[in-house]
Amino acid sequence: MSDQHSFETLAIHAGNTADPLTGAVVPPIYQVSTYKQDGVGGLRGGYEYSRSANPTRTALEENLAALEGGSLGLAFASGLAAEDCLLRTLLSPGDHVVIPNDAYGGTFRLFAKVVSRWGVDFSVADSSDPAAVRAALTPRTKVIWVETPSNPLLGISDIQALAGVARAAGVRLVVDNTFASPYLQQPLALGADVVVHSTTKYMGGHSDVVGGALIVNDAALGEELTYHQNAMGAVAGPFDAWLVLRGIKTLAVRMDRHSENATRVADMLTRHPRVTRVLYPGLPEHPGHETAAKQMKAFGGMVSFRVEGGEEAAVEVCNRARLFTLGESLGGVESLIEHPGRMTHASAAGSALEVPADLVRLSVGIESGDDLLADLKQMLG
Ligand SMILES: Cc1ncc(COP(=O)(O)O)c(C=O)c1O
Repeated sequence: MSDQHSFETLAIHAGNTADPLTGAVVPPIYQVSTYKQDGVGGLRGGYEYSRSANPTRTALEENLAALEGGSLGLAFASGLAAEDCLLRTLLSPGDHVVIPNDAYGGTFRLFAKVVSRWGVDFSVADSSDPAAVRAALTPRTKVIWVETPSNPLLGISDIQALAGVARAAGVRLVVDNTFASPYLQQPLALGADVVVHSTTKYMGGHSDVVGGALIVNDAALGEELTYHQNAMGAVAGPFDAWLVLRGIKTLAVRMDRHSENATRVADMLTRHPRVTRVLYPGLPEHPGHETAAKQMKAFGGMVSFRVEGGEEAAVEVCNRARLFTLGESLGGVESLIEHPGRMTHASAAGSALEVPADLVRLSVGIESGDDLLADLKQMLG
């Protein structure tokens, strides 16, 4: 599949070559752990054991690399497994990382409770301000980590500007592209060194699989990551890889509809008397709007808002949801609502990444926009 093809074409065809044995147009689920060798070391097609490589996972990994414009994609058992593999590849005891002041609670927990125990420390910086990130660098810094848009405050960071800061300091820029997906934003083209995904979200798109991915353009780093993926072992299983590959085929049309519905939702919320603040990069008053418009194709399906009346009022809004499903996660075709302070971001309580108690987060799905607006209006009363 040529890199010259457009995104929508690559999403459907990259990695999806017809099965050589049967001509099946969708890669089969190679639900297998090991492969018959024709004499010791005589591998057919290079496969020996499915932790090292599996044909269904290879199809997904080739697809991921094509969509992010990278030379290598790697698929993992979850987003956090991908992050763990990346961090233990890039970092050694004594190293330092700059992390953003808004990020998925589990990512923060990985830094604060796991990686830090291995002698790696971190500083928190406002990643929407490249000067603040530059000021947080130390001679021991090896990685700048950023999520844009961020979870759950929908902050926007200028990837190109941060890539400049990283390059000048000789450190690597990692971008978690989960909220945008490669259809809306391509961090490697903007100068990032590594793209991280929770493929559980928009890539899978149907709330039926947990997975993660790393995509890079640097051959030496790719080799190290491939080695660690196998040595650490948290790989995507064949059925999970197949589900993500299947989801990706409709990524472009889903993201267009997510963005369209989210724009309508954000617009309605800005006019609602019980809503004190709407966080959506598509709104002209969002501080990152111009940057988002420059580096994203559209503004995505995630909207957060703050409710008059504090924590209890926000929880009550969530509890009244009918069409929106009260639940964690995001990026599926169905709309979800949650209270980050008590749910996805509970692990950030008391830290620099603590989220406002009156915050509600929406993952706006691809149902009828009218029905979604009606449910939100009844929730807000
Ligand atoms: C932005 C972001 N990155 C990473 C993760 C972790 O991914 P997973 O839950 O697949 O381990 C999440 C999960 O919610 C997320 O929202």
